[in-house]
Amino acid sequence: MRILPFLFLFLVLTGCKKEAPSDIKEEPTEKNDVVRFRESYRPQYHFTPPEKWMNDPNGLLFYNDTYHLFYQYYPEDIVWGPMHWGHATSTDLVSWKHQPIALYPDELGYIFSGSAVMDLENTSGLGTKENPPMVAIFTHHDPKGEKEGRNDFQYQSIAYSLDEGTTWTKYDGNPVIGNPTSIRDFRDPKVMWHEASQKWILTLVAGDHAKFYSSPDLKSWTYLSDFGKDKGAHGGVWECPDLFPLTVAGSDETKWALLISMNPGAPNGGSGTQYFIGDFDGTSFTTTQKDIKWLDYGADNYAGVTYNGLPDNDRTFIGWMSNWNYAQKTPTENWRSAMTLSRKLTLHKNDTYYLKSYPVPAIEEYTYSSHTYDSITNNYSLTSENFNEMRIDFEIEGALKDFELKFSNVANDQLFLGYHKEDHSFYVDRRRSGKTNFEPKFAEKVHIAPAMTNGENKTSFSLFLDTSSLEFFVDQGATVMTEQLFPTQPYTVMTFTSKEHKMTQASVSKMKRIWE
Ligand code: FRU
Repeated sequence: MRILPFLFLFLVLTGCKKEAPSDIKEEPTEKNDVVRFRESYRPQYHFTPPEKWMNDPNGLLFYNDTYHLFYQYYPEDIVWGPMHWGHATSTDLVSWKHQPIALYPDELGYIFSGSAVMDLENTSGLGTKENPPMVAIFTHHDPKGEKEGRNDFQYQSIAYSLDEGTTWTKYDGNPVIGNPTSIRDFRDPKVMWHEASQKWILTLVAGDHAKFYSSPDLKSWTYLSDFGKDKGAHGGVWECPDLFPLTVAGSDETKWALLISMNPGAPNGGSGTQYFIGDFDGTSFTTTQKDIKWLDYGADNYAGVTYNGLPDNDRTFIGWMSNWNYAQKTPTENWRSAMTLSRKLTLHKNDTYYLKSYPVPAIEEYTYSSHTYDSITNNYSLTSENFNEMRIDFEIEGALKDFELKFSNVANDQLFLGYHKEDHSFYVDRRRSGKTNFEPKFAEKVHIAPAMTNGENKTSFSLFLDTSSLEFFVDQGATVMTEQLFPTQPYTVMTFTSKEHKMTQASVSKMKRIWE
């Protein structure tokens, strides 16, 4: 095996480090925060909460040049508990600023997942036209009702903010949608403004199907229709829906996408997000889609939804980078779990309609110190101090045949990914990638993704490795696999093997850290 020396201009951080005199006690400062954000496994260019437990992204909203990210948050522990909405803001969807907690549990229950809109016309009357309200629509989950064995312990409520999401008031007429017929899983409202009917449209999930409602004012809701009892995958409970229009790339045809997260029952185990492409006429969603489509075949992209407040074709998605199979057991100490990179969703058509998802263009601004290679052939290895904060792009020319990439370190942790021609699929094998024994389901099998590419001309690949994750994009996101990883130390060697192919147009780049 030949070794290509791979030298990066690493920032020599230690060069400017000053020792604190030993008799001075360190106070919590911003500098300590930076130290805290270097804990082992803390992602360096993905969103994570300041501390404690996080799950689903909520209330994704762009307003006044600011991207708001709310999220399911339990500020007391690193496992799931009474849910709050945490809050963060960004101007570019990559770097984030933590904000005070937005919504706290109350007498109606915990604050489960939901969405947010800017009520610019003040249809709700909760603000004024001059100072329109930001309105959050979420599920109240009543733990007492659940304990008592009732089935109607989830219902939908709203809260509003007149200062762009900093402080919130719960609406005193809550809930705005009561639980109609004691449906145990009745949650995760996603609201959008529907231009054609001049109404707010709300999509929520009820166990094995989605329900649609409309409203003129975000307060009184009329039931419209159901979708999905007999459509799509039903291996688990439907959660976190999202309904939005998209134009088919290269045409002026508009279709509607319905995202449905489901747990368990995803193709590689546990939690995953399926989607339907069809039509929405203001009352019902219909589709002729026969097959089951998944947004991401990796094990770790769940409960993802898209931004309100952006143009329809600037469809921007964030998912929770974990899986209920092991989310509460991953080997981190002060906080748990990260969000995926923000991704742009686009709609395409060949013999069926399908979505691509690829990191937002702003990610290019965080990519630096790129080293390029015209070609990397069978058994080449590149070495680096740390492949776990890097991005790797390359192409493979001609009809796609078997290839494999291995990331490894001296501790003999090994992560594999590649393509199997025989079953026309990509794979990620994290079974020996590092710490895996915190939960058997984490590393029980190789994860497989059917290839969307016809693999006949040229296939492009982008890998984003952050401290404890891999996002693997084929052909700008036609196939995607998002996976958590816990190597016992950073991967330092990347080895390419293929009897048939070489890698072309390869570049290996460092990624800027967002917490500095
Ligand atoms: C999805 C989910 C949602 C629910 C939330 C509770 O991960 O189960 O359905 O609203 O998490 O935290």
